[in-house]
Parts: sequence; structure tokens; C-alpha cells
Amino acid sequence: MTGRDKEKRRATRLIHPTDYASGDFSSLAVPTYRGSTTVFPSMSAVDRPTEDQYRYGIYGTPTARELALRIAAIEGADQTILAPSGLAAVSLALLAFCKSGGHLLVPASAYGPTRELADGLLKDLGIETEIYDPMAGSEIANLIREDTQLIWCESPGSITMEFQDVAAICAAAKARKVPVAIDNTYGAGVLFDAFAAGVDVSVQALTKYQGGHSDLLMGSVSTQGEDASRRVKRAADQLGMSVSPDDCSLVLRGLKTFDLRLRHLGESARTVADWLATQDAVSAVLHPAHRDCPGHDLWKRDWSGSASLFSIIFGRWNRDQVVRFVEALELFKIGYSWGGANSLVMTYHGLRRPTPETGPLLVRLNVGLEDPQDLIDDLEQAMAKAATR
Ligand SMILES: Cc1ncc(COP(=O)(O)O)c(C=O)c1O
Repeated sequence: MTGRDKEKRRATRLIHPTDYASGDFSSLAVPTYRGSTTVFPSMSAVDRPTEDQYRYGIYGTPTARELALRIAAIEGADQTILAPSGLAAVSLALLAFCKSGGHLLVPASAYGPTRELADGLLKDLGIETEIYDPMAGSEIANLIREDTQLIWCESPGSITMEFQDVAAICAAAKARKVPVAIDNTYGAGVLFDAFAAGVDVSVQALTKYQGGHSDLLMGSVSTQGEDASRRVKRAADQLGMSVSPDDCSLVLRGLKTFDLRLRHLGESARTVADWLATQDAVSAVLHPAHRDCPGHDLWKRDWSGSASLFSIIFGRWNRDQVVRFVEALELFKIGYSWGGANSLVMTYHGLRRPTPETGPLLVRLNVGLEDPQDLIDDLEQAMAKAATR
């Protein structure tokens, strides 16, 4: 502290401290940098910023940038933009590409709120959404119009688990110069190489596997190619998409165990799904390693593994039994989302998915990090309770 600083009064010194206990410290954790205002060294830095100059908290802190760079590296993207939730990432991607008067293709299997956005705000903006069969593959070419601005994919589809022929969709789209975006959350950016299949945009809810502990919300929009990257960056800056550095720090911590967790979750989910397939009450196991799963062959062709989420159908039960089963579970907690340490279960009433007749008899399971044999025991006792009237 200089002599002049010592003369400053307490209120000023509280705000302009001069002593920092910085010293020689080196940690394995990425520091959490908080900040709305970013201080510039001079007016010339304000007027002539370098390309990666920090300008204001909303455009990124070092913690957020570090996370974005790591997600981009994992996915093989040119650019990753972070968003405050997976759904915010979906809306950012859609708003970056769709304009008034345009046409958008969305699979019938898409995440419910994605369809609500298409039917709601996007419709209000004059964007027409057409719902397509998720198994369309190259036949998507028949639906592409002059005014088609984006083809949305989600593979596998939410809840009903349709694995799409993304490469065939991208080939048809490229022939007409239409960009393709995918909700790639299930694949976590590693089990399915969306950019190798030809997509321009890969969206993830980092809430799931990268966060990994059910204690935060975050999303990412990763892009390849100059045009897609520019569009997404522009939309993110104008919409004020910003993420908390504290949450980024948690996701960065989650990344350290991401690979281990994803592999273990995938193995446990497979063990549980294989056991469920042997049960009389279960008429279909919508897990990609099982033939019941739509696109099972595409999964074998394109994927390097499976994750923690799958659905089963109790085709011979009624809705009351399905609800009794779900409520009798002890380790599987009733709740939305997936990818965390805890096993979760959910059942749906009015599913707007390609299998409306089986919707109320479908149960979605997220297998967590508990011992798979304990999970099987839990499912067995709940099935016994639901079977007896
Ligand atoms: C496939 C899929 N995409 C996106 C989201 C949205 O993620 P978030 O919960 O972070 O908004 C979810 C959430 O469940 C999802 O299942």
C-alpha cells in the first residue's frame, strides 16, 4: 500500500483494496471468476478490442470460457456457446436459424418443451413448424421446401427413444443447403459423433451428464462452420445468454469424473434393461441394445455406447398398475431429468409422441450410480406390488 492509499478513508478502501493475498498458489481447480463489469486497461482497449478481449460479464468470464472450450474440444466443435439451461440452448439454436416466414422441421419424438417452443413463440414469430417421422432418414428430402431454414433432430427421441439416421438426414439437407441441428444430450457429445454425421449444430443439456449431480442447470450450443458459429454467437450476444461462473465451476468439476460416470451408468443401465427384458409384465424395452428400440440397427452402426436412460412399456397392465408400480419404487425417485447419481422414474399421461397408444403404459427410467442389483431388487418388489390388485 502506498502512502497516498493509506490516506484514503475506510469506505473508499473497502471498495478499492490494494492488498491481495495472491502469492505463489497453484491449484488443480479452475478458478471461479465472478464479474459483471470487466475493467479495461485503457480507452484504446475499449475502442479497439482484440478478438478475445473480455468486455463485460455477459459475454463470458474466464471460468465460462474454459468450460466452453472444453465442451468444444470434447465434441470436436469450432465454437461452443453456453446457455443457462438445456432448454435455453435449444431456444438459442432455433432462434439463431429461424426467421419470420420460414419453415422448420422437428421430429415427432422431440423433447416436449422444444415442441412447445415451436408451437408457441416460434409460431408467434411467423415460423411454421412441420412435425416429421423421426425414422424418416433420407426421406426427409420430400419435406424440405424452398423456405426450410432448419432441420431439427433429437437422437434418441425423448422418452420414446427413437434413434435417427442423422447421417442420411444431413446428406439430404446438404443437397438443399439446409442446416441441421441436433439435441445431442443423450450422447453427451461422446457416444455419438454428431459432427461426423454432418450436423452444423449440436445442442446439449449439460444439466445431465456433465453436471452429473442434479444440482445445476446448463446448456451448450456447439457449432462447426463459420456461418453456423456466427449465427449462434450473434443470437447469444443479442439475447444476453449468460451462465453463472459458480455453475460453470461445478460443471468443470463434473467433467473430471464425466467419462467414468458415463461408462459406469451405461453399464448399469444395460444390466437393468437386460433384466427387465426377462420379465413377463414388460412388453417392450426401449433401450438401444434391445431390438424393441426404434433405430436399434442405427445405434449399432453409429454409436459407441449407451447412456443411463431408457423406457419400458407394461403393455398388459392398465394405467393404475403403472402408477402403483412407480409409487412403490423406493430407490428410483419420481422426478424429471436424468444423468445424475440418483436413479429416477417418470411416467406420462398425454404423451405427444409416435406411440400414443402405449404412452400411458410407458415408464421412463434413469439408472443412477446405485448398485444395479439393488435397483433390480427395487424394480422386482414394485412390480410384485403393482401386479396384485
Ligand atoms: C433431450 C433433452 N433436451 C433438453 C433438455 C432441457 O434441459 P434442461 O433441463 O437443462 O433445460 C432436456 C431436459 O430434460 C432433455 O431431456
